[in-house]
Amino acid sequence: MSLSQALQAARELHSQLPALREFAPWPGDLQPAALAPAAMPALDQVAGFGQPGTAETQPLINALRNSASQAYWTQTYTEEEVGAHFLQNYGYFELFGPTGHFRTNQLRGYIAYWGAGLKYDWHSHEAEELYVVLGGGAQFLTDENDCWLSAGDTRLHGGWQPHAMNTGDQPILTYVLWRGAGLEGLPLMGGQRASAA
Ligand SMILES: [Fe+2]
Repeated sequence: MSLSQALQAARELHSQLPALREFAPWPGDLQPAALAPAAMPALDQVAGFGQPGTAETQPLINALRNSASQAYWTQTYTEEEVGAHFLQNYGYFELFGPTGHFRTNQLRGYIAYWGAGLKYDWHSHEAEELYVVLGGGAQFLTDENDCWLSAGDTRLHGGWQPHAMNTGDQPILTYVLWRGAGLEGLPLMGGQRASAA
């Protein structure tokens, strides 16, 4: 199955979840790009992702399970920053955006996966961000808030707002939108203290 089906499932999800529609309109200028697949260690975990979604998120989970091997998976962080275990169990790809499988400069849509038992340390970035939990769950932290999010839940992070995430006994598969200034930037690790200044 190709990533076109994942894009269509994301588009359908966008029409169904108010939080997505309120964050940004679906990009109107999407163009497919010839982006060759790139594997990552946790590819099989995504292809075999077994945590249930909601009625709205399950179609995108299914499309991702089937097309995971077609994605250009990347990892922002180095082993020095997060450790070898983290890199064996995490990865993301840009489904659409300035450098994604489908190109647009209006919005960025990532698919990001973390395995169970991971601590994703404090980080921040310029772009505003909306997380949608497709399946599984994790503890999401900001300076003001600390809560467990499960399938169908959403979380908004402001520009340069430090945030962190911990998975527990289950993995998490997420759909993440970026909008506004900094659309092309990357998350910066350890940004809690520095960027809060
Ligand atoms: Fe983020």
